[in-house]
This record gives sequence, C-alpha cells and structure tokens, in this order.
Amino acid sequence: MFVTALAVWGMSLNTNAWKGEVTIATPNTQLLLHADENSDLRMDYYGSRSCTAAEVRDAGTAFNYPALPAFGAVDMVQLPALQIQHADGDLSSELKVEGYDVKEEGNAKVYVFTMRDKLQPLVVRLFYKAYHDVDVIETWTEIENLAKKAVTLKRYDSGHLVIRQGDVWITHLHGDWAAEAEPTTEPLKAGVKVIRNSDGARNAHLDAPEVMLSLDGRPQENQGRVIGAALCWSGNFELRFNTLLKKEHHFFAGIDPQSSEYVLDPKQTFATPHLALTFSTKGMSGVSRAFHRWARTCGGLHRGMKVGDILLNSWEGLYFDINEERMVQMMTDIAAFGGELFVMDDGWFGDKYPRNNDTSSLGDWVVDKRKLPGGIKALTDAARERGIKFGIWIEPECVNTKSELFEQHPEWALQVKGRDLKLGRGGTQLVLDMTNPKVQDFVFKVFDDLMTQYPEIAYIKWDANASIQNYGSTYLPKDRQQNLYVDYHLGLLKVLQRIRAKYPDVVIQDCASGGGRANYGLLPYFDEFWASDNTDALQRVYIQWGTSYFFPANAMACHINHCPYWNTGGRVIPVKFRCDVAMSGRLGIELQPKDMTDEERRQCTTCFADYKQLRPIVQTGDLYRLLSPYDRKGVASLMYVKDNAAALFIYKTDNYYNQPLPRIRLAGLDPAVTYTLTEKNVRVGQRPCALSGKRFTGRFLMDVGLEVPLREEYASRVFELTSN
Ligand code: GLA
Repeated sequence: MFVTALAVWGMSLNTNAWKGEVTIATPNTQLLLHADENSDLRMDYYGSRSCTAAEVRDAGTAFNYPALPAFGAVDMVQLPALQIQHADGDLSSELKVEGYDVKEEGNAKVYVFTMRDKLQPLVVRLFYKAYHDVDVIETWTEIENLAKKAVTLKRYDSGHLVIRQGDVWITHLHGDWAAEAEPTTEPLKAGVKVIRNSDGARNAHLDAPEVMLSLDGRPQENQGRVIGAALCWSGNFELRFNTLLKKEHHFFAGIDPQSSEYVLDPKQTFATPHLALTFSTKGMSGVSRAFHRWARTCGGLHRGMKVGDILLNSWEGLYFDINEERMVQMMTDIAAFGGELFVMDDGWFGDKYPRNNDTSSLGDWVVDKRKLPGGIKALTDAARERGIKFGIWIEPECVNTKSELFEQHPEWALQVKGRDLKLGRGGTQLVLDMTNPKVQDFVFKVFDDLMTQYPEIAYIKWDANASIQNYGSTYLPKDRQQNLYVDYHLGLLKVLQRIRAKYPDVVIQDCASGGGRANYGLLPYFDEFWASDNTDALQRVYIQWGTSYFFPANAMACHINHCPYWNTGGRVIPVKFRCDVAMSGRLGIELQPKDMTDEERRQCTTCFADYKQLRPIVQTGDLYRLLSPYDRKGVASLMYVKDNAAALFIYKTDNYYNQPLPRIRLAGLDPAVTYTLTEKNVRVGQRPCALSGKRFTGRFLMDVGLEVPLREEYASRVFELTSN
C-alpha cells in the first residue's frame, strides 16, 4: 500500500494507478475500502471496529462493490450514485483510482480518493472524513469538469453504502406542518424504496433527509446494530434503497436530480453536500447520541456545546397584534418568571404596507412606527433595564406581492416569465431568487442593518414559510434554469457564511413554518430550530421524540403554550405537564403571560428555576430514550446523562381505568454508583412524590427500574439524579 501525493489533482490526465487497502476508522466504527489494478474504489465493509480487513476478506464477507457506483461501470440493474452526460453525449463514466491523500483537519482525518474517468476529461474526488473522538464518518464528492464544454450531472449522490441483507429495517421521519417528525419504521423489502422531498425550500416537513437502518430486525432503542445517515443539505434530496435478488441492499443519498440535472461549466468543480454516517451497537439511542455529539463538537450545530436561553416568544400570545406596550409588558413578565430572553415575532415591520396579517409587507424590513413609536431601540432599552436579552423575527428570503420591495424589484421573486405567479401564504407570498447575487446582498443587508443599527439584538428568528412553486429565475440563463433548486441553496449558504463571518455570536433560530428546516445543511449556521408550530404538549411528546432521533436537545426549541389550544381543537393540558415537556429540550414559553392563572405563573417560575439546574444535563448530556410514546404503553420516558448526574422525564400519555403502568428501567448510568432522586418542577400545591430523596444504585435503576406514581390524567414527573 502506498499513498500518492496528489499535488496535481485535476490538472492533467495521468495514468498512474493505485491499488491497495485503506481502513477509515472512528473510535468504534470502520469503513474498509480497497482498489485493484486499474479499478475504481471498492467498498468492503462498514460497521463495528471489531474485525480486521483480512478477516473480512478471508471470511468471504467483503462486499467488493464500487464505493461510488457510476452509470456505465456497474451492472445496469444496479442503481448508480453518479451519472454524468459528457459534452459528446456519452452517459457513462468509468472511474479509476489514481491515489489517495490523507490530512488531519481539526479532530478528524480526511481521506480523499482521486478517480479519473478512463475516457472523458473528468475527475471525481471521493472524500471520507473520520472523527477521532466521535463515531461519525462524513462522505461527499467533488466532480471536476476538465472538458472545454459543459457537462450535465444527471445524478450526483453524496454517498453510497452497501448493507448485507438480513432482517434490515429503516426508520425515517415523516410528517406535515404541525405534525413533524413522526418516525416511520418498516422492513426493507425487495425493490426500490425512495424517500424524497421536493418542497424546494424546506426539506424537513414531509420527509426528512435522515434515516436509521437497523440491521437486527425491528429497531430497539438501547440495543442492536443500527446505521444512521444524515444528508447535510437544505434543498431537495433523495434517499434510495435498492434491494435486488442478491445478498445486499444499496443505500444512496444525495441531492434529488429531479428537475435538477445540474449543468456544470467547463473547468468548474461541483462539491456535493456531506452525508454524515454513524454506526452503533447500542440501538437507535446510540445512533442519536453519536449524531448529537457530532453536532455539538464537530460543527454540525453552530451553538456547539452552548446552552440556549429560556425565552418568551410573542407569536402565539399575540400573533400580529403587537405594539410597544405589549412588548414591554411581555418583557416584564418573562423577566419576573426568571426568563432570560424576549423575542418579538412577526408583525413589527412595514411602512407603506403595515404587517397586520400574512398578506403583506415581507421584504419591507422597516419598523412600523405606528405600533412601535420608540422603534427597536426602545425595546432593546426595555430588555436591558429588565436584565434580559432581546430577539427579533425576520423572513428575509420571502416577499409579498403587496410590499414596496416587490414594487421596486418584481424580478427578484422566483417566477416563470409569461406564467401566472403561484402565490403562497396569505395569497401573496413569493420566494426571492437566492441564485441572484443582488438578492443575496439584499438578504445579507436585512440581517446586517438590524445588527448594526441595534447591536444589542442577541437573537434572530429566521423564518421561511414558503416552498418554491415558481420554477424559474430571471437571473439564471435559460440553459441553466435546471440549476435553480441547487443554486438557491448554495446562494443561501453564501449569505449565511457572510453573516457568520461578521456575527459569530448572535443566536439564530432556524424556523420554517415550524420544523420545516431542521436539517444539518443549515444547522452549522444556526443555533437551534423551532421544532413545530404545534405547541400542544401531548403532541410535542411525539414530535420531540422523533426529532431527537437526529437532533440534540440544545438545538430543539420547545415552548410552553397556552390552553385551550386551537391547534388541537381546544385541548386543555395542565401547566405542569406543559412545563415538563418543554423542559426536555431548549425551554421557552409561547403565550400571553397576562392571560395566565396564578397557578400557571407559579408553576412556570418553579419550572424556570429548576430548569436552570438541569439545563447543562438536558442540553448537553447523552440522551437515552426509554419508553416510546409510539409503543402505546400509556407512558413515555427519556433521560439525559452527563457525568454522574441525570435528568429523567416521564409523561403519562394515556389514561384509563385499571391501567397497568410500565416499570421504567433507566439507562446510561454507572451500575456501581449510588444516585439520589430529587423530584423537580413539583406541581404547585403538591409535595414531591415518595421516590424523591431516595437513593438507588445505577444497577438497580437499570436492571429493576422504577414505578413512578402517575395517577391523574396528564401526570408527569421530572427527576434529577445526583451521585453525591
Ligand atoms: C411561522 C413560524 C411561527 C411564526 C409565524 C409568524 O409559522 O413557524 O413560529 O413565527 O411564522 O408568521
């Protein structure tokens, strides 16, 4: 085995060939690859680190299949991960590895394999980035067009995995507005299974770009071998599973080429989004912990290990009905509860067209002085006086037809010349053309103006409430229109990179009609996301459960709502349950405090104080999901562990006569350590339950478990476990 120094990547058609084996490893996982004489790169194994390449080969279990199957090089019944139409019309590619290079990058080792087409002037570089302290390997490609003419990328997946057939099941998140992240679990059967999202702008509402593959039958939370995959992209994607009558499944993940066969100009290189892969022998919770750790320590989430503030968001308390007096009143209330941040949501802007509802004003990011005579300055002053921070809502990628921006720049909206505009929210909403550098400058300026005029703004809620319905750009040339879906997101990323270069510290929330943009394409620039516009606490038990499969608690904004709650037909849920559910993520509150009862106020104050103690464990600890609400046992439970402390959450999700309540067996504790249980956020007017103050070994808690009193409807308990 030898390593070629690839100093001339893509510079010349050289015919050097490399053959050999490579092991790409993280602490507990490995990917085994090799190349033969004149061959492409071959994948032999992905899984636990408990075997050697020689064992895999000698046992006859090496896959020996192209790591990046190209159309024309693999058996036609297999699906390709890469298909390029070359300038002369040739649809095939036959890649040959020239060599590979390895470099240390932060806490990871990056391997780059350079492959060159045997006929066409094309270089494909296949990357694997393996982290030293987290079990995640990222993979992606760079496609370099060395021809004198453009080529078309007809398929350009980020990565591909071979998986041995057996009793393999997949779990992916499916949902809708206000019903995000419902896990769908199904066995992988013969044929092709495709999961895709074609929204254009928000890729996590209906189907999401993450998946788990359980290799040992129906997946379990805390045992079994599971592969996790997350495509780090905010646009349309496609996850494909191909199962033929052979012994393997093939998994592919990448940008959806439908309506996006990308035209790559001469001498240009296209870099695909990263696909983050993990493998765990500790079930789905094990995969989640790997993704959470990767997000928090390897750049997947801008916030990293930082914890989020307890905030009040004005939306569900006031909707568009904001004014200075109400903003100040809300700030006074959240400060009195012990909160740390106030966020003014939609409704604060528009001069010629005031934003009183969703039919106008997007694009006109000037303060509506009728509502806020003292401007934003008066609000940041008021926040400072109350000892809290101030945040504000924007939706900079969109415009309403009723706005000054649209009057001045109708060409900035995505549109197809000669066709009627398809209008979104409010019957007037359009998406701006983020492929256009002038629009990118405008969107940057919306953010930059706010921050330079009001440097005390500590938090921006960045919303995106539209899909791309008008498939056309006045900026892109007519023979590049198919690049729109991709170039939109590359344009968005450029703006976000500029923003982060200038404003690394402002907290930015990623919102898109709720959880429509919970994805790892955007989270490197955002600190958290709004998990759902549905804040009903019982619904949130389910939504937050699914969301936690891939995203850490410090990224997941969870707010206490007001009841009766319109989104669930006027359901009334006790404030204690609402608090306990929101406490399992980044806690906030979303109501008009003026309308709260005395009990609600007291409970929230207790909740905030207790949450501050639990927050480091919840927001940066290791998650163990214990009892799934989807298993319909009447109770859901999860816990976070950090060092020798833990936070345990238990929710009664159903209530009926003679109900057998499941015993809750904890996980992730040290069996030899004795823990003290302390009930937190005790219901106002009640005493802690009998378990509070008791001491148990980790072994007892994990092997025997607890029977927690949950008598009344919507009963819930939160415990802190401490070891001293
Ligand atoms: C979206 C968001 C909400 C709120 C509204 C404002 O629906 O998800 O949280 O910000 O927009 O219009």
